[in-house]
Amino acid sequence: MTKPIVRLAREDDREAVLSFCQMLPGNKKDYIPLVWDKWIVEQKSQIFVATSDDIPVAMERVLFLSDSEAWREGLRVDSRYRNQGLSKILDLNINQYLLSKNLKVSRTMILSDNQIMANILSKKGYKKGEIMITMKPIRLLLIISG
Ligand SMILES: CC(C)(COP(=O)(O)OP(=O)(O)OC[C@H]1O[C@@H](n2cnc3c(N)ncnc32)[C@H](O)[C@@H]1OP(=O)(O)O)[C@@H](O)C(=O)NCCC(=O)NCCS
Repeated sequence: MTKPIVRLAREDDREAVLSFCQMLPGNKKDYIPLVWDKWIVEQKSQIFVATSDDIPVAMERVLFLSDSEAWREGLRVDSRYRNQGLSKILDLNINQYLLSKNLKVSRTMILSDNQIMANILSKKGYKKGEIMITMKPIRLLLIISG
């Protein structure tokens, strides 16, 4: 993989992004193909992609909730490029972007059984929220950063 570059997603990234957003851990079907067309034109959000040779290999979406808060979702790394620090590179770039916009609070939500993400977020300083939303058969856990 060439040195990854983080940039905003473009409409023509659709095929490359959706190619690695098909399945989630636990053999769950990914929802990104259902929301991509809406997300890419949404004014109050940005999709960031990490690219190799300008081809997306990771993505994350940021939605602007208010002047100070952002909602982050849809973190995905192409399975061929996991454990190479891509999610960290994406995170660093997104954090810099958010700080430049004075957005100091990030919120996100993960499936309660996604222990890998729970560990990653906890290491980044996210704190678990007190709200547990139950949506049968899937439980969702709300996580709020400090
Ligand atoms: C979770 C995911 C985003 C991690 O991306 P990644 O680029 O492989 O992660 P990185 O290489 O940047 O590693 C980040 C940290 O997570 C840890 N990590 C990554 N994958 C891990 C795994 N399978 N098990 C345990 N720890 C893991 C790394 O060791 C690293 O820890 P460190 O900060 O102590 O060094 C990626 O595996 C993925 O896309 N998974 C499927 C989709 C998903 O679950 N998205 C989140 C939905 S909320």
